[in-house]
Amino acid sequence: MTPELPIYLDHQSTTPVDARVLAAMLPYFYEQYGNASSHHHAYGQAARAAVTTAREQVAELLGVAPREVIFTSGATEANNLAIKGCLAAAPPGSHLIVNAAEHKSVLDVATKLASRGIEVTILPVSTQGLVDPEAIREAIRPNTVLVSAMLGNNEVGSINPIAEIANICAARDVPFHSDITQAVGRIPVGLSAWPIDLASLTAHKVYGPKGIGALIKRRSSRQPALESQLDGGGHENSLRGGTLPVPLIVGFGQACELVRQLRAADAMRLRELAVQLEQGIRSQLPEVTLNGPPLIEDRLPGNLNLSFGGIDGDRLLSRMTRIAVSSGAASSSAEAEPSHVLRAMSLGDQLVRASLRFGIGRPTTSADIEIAINEVVTVVRDLRSMRRN
Ligand SMILES: Cc1ncc(COP(=O)(O)O)c(C=O)c1O
Repeated sequence: MTPELPIYLDHQSTTPVDARVLAAMLPYFYEQYGNASSHHHAYGQAARAAVTTAREQVAELLGVAPREVIFTSGATEANNLAIKGCLAAAPPGSHLIVNAAEHKSVLDVATKLASRGIEVTILPVSTQGLVDPEAIREAIRPNTVLVSAMLGNNEVGSINPIAEIANICAARDVPFHSDITQAVGRIPVGLSAWPIDLASLTAHKVYGPKGIGALIKRRSSRQPALESQLDGGGHENSLRGGTLPVPLIVGFGQACELVRQLRAADAMRLRELAVQLEQGIRSQLPEVTLNGPPLIEDRLPGNLNLSFGGIDGDRLLSRMTRIAVSSGAASSSAEAEPSHVLRAMSLGDQLVRASLRFGIGRPTTSADIEIAINEVVTVVRDLRSMRRN
């Protein structure tokens, strides 16, 4: 008998592929398997038509033009293309502004560029994980070629004042990039409302497949020059070489179409479940502290990040056998380091290690949340009593 799997509460890390997404993808593996670049025969033409539809679905969700969508392998690649691509096309000694709560696929790129002579400013974030637009205004210099700030944070769900930041950059004529990966599918993301030049996203956070995402490159007045990071074949307007993964692209398009239809209702339900979880835990463990903005409407729907002071953080996760969550002791990067986001929010090491990130998603039920509450309360009480004894 296969052991029962824990309840999945790690939807910021990844989401299951929606059955409707899978159904849309399947024919493109074994019936319509043409190469979208093979214009001259029916197989290629069918693949190309499917890619066109998917590009339109992604574009429609974000309020951009289809030609502004550059397919990549995911948000990591999109962030690399946006930042390295902009800096590679700029003169030596150019300046980049990021902040300390970004995903590693922004921060590691910034660190590498700094080691190659690019001037990099890493701005601090508030104790709620937010970037201060005024700090960006002050950090911009004549040689600044790009500012990057995420829309929604993947650990604490904080939502940056992106319109304000984008307007500050636009007023100084500095291109602005935003990692919108976690926000898409949870809050409305209409890129045409803000002067954002570049935006990164990925399918597997919105019930699509892993291995596909996009960089949105707006045809803005600033039009940042971008150097491709993967050459060969001239695909995606010569910005990303490589045969297009048609089934993944079809799945990404379908996932975006579902987000367009379901996001508002999903978000309302996720917020209700997050309230149930937070109240259920805090009513029984009043000393628990919340990481991120205190008001639920200021956080991404479905996100809850809590610290359990006074207990051994390393034991916390290993004891949670009935739920699959993520911990501040080993955040979601492959390196399993303590969370750089919580540290950037000035949390002490003990609280960082003793924190849990809950990610509620489309399949989560209220009954799942009750099990999660029981599990957390039981484990935390056990660990506390072990400490006392
Ligand atoms: C905010 C953010 N940016 C980028 C990524 C990387 O996305 P991908 O897994 O598609 O490379 C993630 C995923 O963990 C993320 O949460």
